[in-house]
Amino acid sequence: MLIPAHIEAELRRRAASGSTLNCYIYDTAPMREKIAHLVQIMPEGLELFYAMKANPHPAFLQAALQAGAVGIEIASLGEARRAVDAGFAAGRLIYTGPGKSPEELAWSVENGVRTVHIESLVEAHRLNSICKKLGKGIDVLLRINANFDIHDAQTTFSGGSKKFGIDEEMLDEALPRILTLDHLNFRGLHVYAASGVLNVADLLKNCELVFDLTRKIEAAYAGVSCDIIDFGGGFGVDYLETGHDFDPQAYAEGLAAMIASYGFEGRRFVLELGRYLAADSGYFCSEILDIKESRGKKQVVCAGGINHFRRPAALSINHPLAIVHTGRAKLFDTQVSVENEQVYFGGPLCTSADKLANDVYVEAADIGDIAVFGLAGAYGLTMSNQEFLSHDRPEEVVL
Ligand SMILES: Cc1ncc(COP(=O)(O)O)c(C=O)c1O
Repeated sequence: MLIPAHIEAELRRRAASGSTLNCYIYDTAPMREKIAHLVQIMPEGLELFYAMKANPHPAFLQAALQAGAVGIEIASLGEARRAVDAGFAAGRLIYTGPGKSPEELAWSVENGVRTVHIESLVEAHRLNSICKKLGKGIDVLLRINANFDIHDAQTTFSGGSKKFGIDEEMLDEALPRILTLDHLNFRGLHVYAASGVLNVADLLKNCELVFDLTRKIEAAYAGVSCDIIDFGGGFGVDYLETGHDFDPQAYAEGLAAMIASYGFEGRRFVLELGRYLAADSGYFCSEILDIKESRGKKQVVCAGGINHFRRPAALSINHPLAIVHTGRAKLFDTQVSVENEQVYFGGPLCTSADKLANDVYVEAADIGDIAVFGLAGAYGLTMSNQEFLSHDRPEEVVL
């Protein structure tokens, strides 16, 4: 991985200060460019939302706001508040996710969230009775757990037994009941297949499936139409540096052709992207505090571990890595360095789960150098075990 010059300069400046370096560095320029590009190439009717679970830092919300995202996909009241604080009116928020509490649903109704995405019959009834009490209605999408899964995705959200949405096979039982709930205004479907998908054809297959479901529903239920179709998130990034990035142009062209072939012009389509927008706008940067040989393999210990950057351990993948050499003097003459070998990177926590990377090839690294993990802008700090061992929270530096 090549570290952009301004990121490296900032790291060198901080390393020279003498205190232990352990931080995230964010520059949201890539995110802004990606949003602007997607807005430009996506078919008519497509609305782009930022899934703020990827990174809720205000800099990322500002980037989404300024670069032209229609709104924010939220999955908690905490996210709703942060999005509103960043300048998104509640009418620009779409609320997804299982297990929404009565308080969260009431906030959505009172503040006029754009759409609430119903995950179960229980949630539909709960939302309807809250609406009734507040004397208001709300637009809803029905989330379907489609009978389809993308096998090589990092995480799947549909297919098999899932806590997300209502099983496709149960639609005929669930939809008529939802349609009788008179405070819920049924607007369409939400089917989110998988996250971290690099193959455009797989995500387009998901779109085709939702379009088929839409046709089926509209044929079966007179007067019901799915004006809004939400494909969720899922655009992947190339963590393994294979050189094959997700191709948004191919997706946009494929989707436009599909909309035309189904005669679905005039509807609204939603993408809620997190990873693809945020990943390359952040780096996790952690000073190497120790290097030792242990039974044939070098163990490199950094200042931060899964308390600050849990994703590599949670998903068993290595993120792109580069070392910034600081030329720190050795502490003693036989001090071990890394030289052209596969090594293990961990943090300071008392658990062998505290892995940052394994079997990763490194040309050279020394104590005092900085390990820089790329594509860390999405699902970085907020997905981590920050409280475990009570280390200080890493600074989030915005350039
Ligand atoms: C409902 C929902 N929408 C959008 C996203 C964002 O997905 P991604 O980061 O893969 O784009 C997620 C991620 O878990 C999600 O659960």
